[in-house]
Amino acid sequence: MNQAAPAPKENMGNPIPRVDAGLKVTGQAGYPADLAVANVAYGVLATSNIAKGRISALRLDKARAMPGVLDIVSVGDMDGVDKPKFGNTGASSIGPLHDRTIFHDGQIIALVVAETFEAAEEGAMQISADYTQETPSASFDSAGAEMEPAAGKSPLFKEDVNAGDFEAAYSTAAVKIDQTYSTPTQHHNPIELFSTTAMWQGDKLTIYEPSQNVTGWKIELARQLNIDPVNVRIVSPYIGGAFGSKGPMTARTAIVAVAARRVRRPVRCVVSRMQAFNTQTYRAETRHRIRIGAGKDGRITAFAHEGWEVTSRPDPYVVGGTSATGRMYDYGSVLTRVSLVHADRNTPGYMRSPPETPYVYALENAMDEMAVALGMDPVQFRRINEPQKEPIGGKPFSSRSLINCYDQAAEAFGWSTRDPAVGSMRDGDWLVGMGCATAIYPTAAAPCAARVRLTADGQVRVQCGSHEIGTGVRTVAAQMAAERLGVDIDKVAVEMGDSALPPAPVSGGSISTASVCSAVLKACEAVREKLFVAAAGNDGPLAGSGNAKLDMTNEKVVTETGKSAKLADVFKAMQIGAIEEYAEFAPNGSSPEALKKLYAGQAEFHGGDQDKDSVKYAFGAEFVEVRINSYTREIRVPRMVGAFAAGRIMNTRTARSQLMGGMIWGIGQALHEATEIDQRHARYVNRDLQDYLVPVNADIKAVDVILVPEVDHEVNPAGVKGLGELGNVGTAAAVASAVYHATGRRIRDLPIRIDDLI
Ligand code: MOS
Repeated sequence: MNQAAPAPKENMGNPIPRVDAGLKVTGQAGYPADLAVANVAYGVLATSNIAKGRISALRLDKARAMPGVLDIVSVGDMDGVDKPKFGNTGASSIGPLHDRTIFHDGQIIALVVAETFEAAEEGAMQISADYTQETPSASFDSAGAEMEPAAGKSPLFKEDVNAGDFEAAYSTAAVKIDQTYSTPTQHHNPIELFSTTAMWQGDKLTIYEPSQNVTGWKIELARQLNIDPVNVRIVSPYIGGAFGSKGPMTARTAIVAVAARRVRRPVRCVVSRMQAFNTQTYRAETRHRIRIGAGKDGRITAFAHEGWEVTSRPDPYVVGGTSATGRMYDYGSVLTRVSLVHADRNTPGYMRSPPETPYVYALENAMDEMAVALGMDPVQFRRINEPQKEPIGGKPFSSRSLINCYDQAAEAFGWSTRDPAVGSMRDGDWLVGMGCATAIYPTAAAPCAARVRLTADGQVRVQCGSHEIGTGVRTVAAQMAAERLGVDIDKVAVEMGDSALPPAPVSGGSISTASVCSAVLKACEAVREKLFVAAAGNDGPLAGSGNAKLDMTNEKVVTETGKSAKLADVFKAMQIGAIEEYAEFAPNGSSPEALKKLYAGQAEFHGGDQDKDSVKYAFGAEFVEVRINSYTREIRVPRMVGAFAAGRIMNTRTARSQLMGGMIWGIGQALHEATEIDQRHARYVNRDLQDYLVPVNADIKAVDVILVPEVDHEVNPAGVKGLGELGNVGTAAAVASAVYHATGRRIRDLPIRIDDLI
């Protein structure tokens, strides 16, 4: 694999190594559970072993008698604490210690607190319960699973769409398909385990926990505990993988806080990987029915996408990816419908490109089938159906470089060498297949605040309560400040991951680079303005230059005509040591309450399909080669090429890493990942990294990322389209397309396994 960072092209920033790279690779970047805490006690969860029913008796005596056990927080011990809420900030409305109802397997029934981790674990194992048990519904086809339309039921889903006359267009289409697709349950397995450490000092509570939303959690935790948010601080400086799993706060946070208050000591609870399958969120299984009709010329006239998603009994979690699939091509008519299926499961939640990964998988697999039905090259098929405007609302795209991405990726991949005949390409015992698919991700931004301080010696401090979840946002924030303030990046320090800092939105939806950089940019502009006024003022070192055309570079304020003044001299003229500016950024179209909501932990998203003037998306094209052993049917992916256009690329190294990581995850979705469910007990079976398969080094060979230049001034002041979630959209469909090309087998249900090809 080529490890070099791509050289910047037009509208791309330098491939500066991450500012925290050294700390990361030397293990000095402590995750929240690594942070030293004096006099800490350890908490271990005890969980239910049924999926549906009520606790009739909870036996804690044996655990209480264990040496070292300090306390047990269990059902009934949450007096004065409000139940969690389901929504963007809260993972589920299930308050496991608030009542005796069991909603899912592995539900928290107690937290044992002890002097040592081992004692707490032993105590948790000694807890037993009696239940009145009911038969649980595990998934879509289970008796008792309840289906309902998503529209109107969930705050997370807007609407079904009926644009044009789908039924008429479809019934008269010359070429059509009507197929169903499915994706399995997938579970978060970040390297860093989930954890909460809670510490009280008087009435002040500090939480160390990996979080993608420190401000939102501060507010939500204060609400649950009925305390003033001023007294709550969430600290999350480094995170070992998030991908949505650390976005919404789970019930555990308040439980650990209650435990720490009871034992009057800090309590640290690290959740085992096994327990995380049930106590954290996950990607729900989905089903899709797609109908596409087209003329013999390949022009689509009718598109319908119906989706079904599993959720928990009480919560209407939904992703509804029809918002993106319905706008992907020039369909003529569009019909979409999303339904929820409530089962006795823990509430699912965000996982990297939550709506797009499953829904675009189905769409792109269907597009490949249509191309086959039409006898048309799949790239050509996309080209023919490239829209001028999105087909639902008729709005323009702020920018759309999809065809450019296809052209560049196809060229680099060598698509022209592909023999379109199925099963025609072979290399010894290996059947060779080549396939492709489109990636799309909505471009959004949310209100964000940042503080920037510049001192006379050229040191810069950036503070923003965003989160370094591995994306490189600390690095790009530093780059933005270094560029605008004309200092070397080594002189910029960035503080993040603490609710005591200026508030930032959830680090989700690929909004962080755009939102954070826009806020940092605004603060830097204010710093520059102050310096420029002083530098060009009567007593300034550049008196008489006028401040309109000044700039900052090499720790100097410079004029257009080549005059310059050292920063230190400008500060001297101002008779101050530092300039500090606090800026609040709100995207275009923000409501009058947008900034107030930012401080309340409910940042408004703008962009995607929400804006009046245009729709905003980033695009990409992914090409995959598969090799399938003709005897064993072993499936290998020797190479992938993806080309992506996402507006301003702040840093080609971190951008490439994000996209490459996404494509690799896409291989996992295509070939490895699936949570196996015991349908009788609504129980996850493969709850560890031995049986829950993710790609390892041996599975991944050449991954080539092409960054396609794109300029978009409409999306946000930084001109940035988020790309953290773009790379793994479409990958699985490209693999399915390649598998079909190699074997003639159309696999519609993920993951694709050897057994499917025998
Ligand atoms: Mo991402 S799944 O929006 O954290």
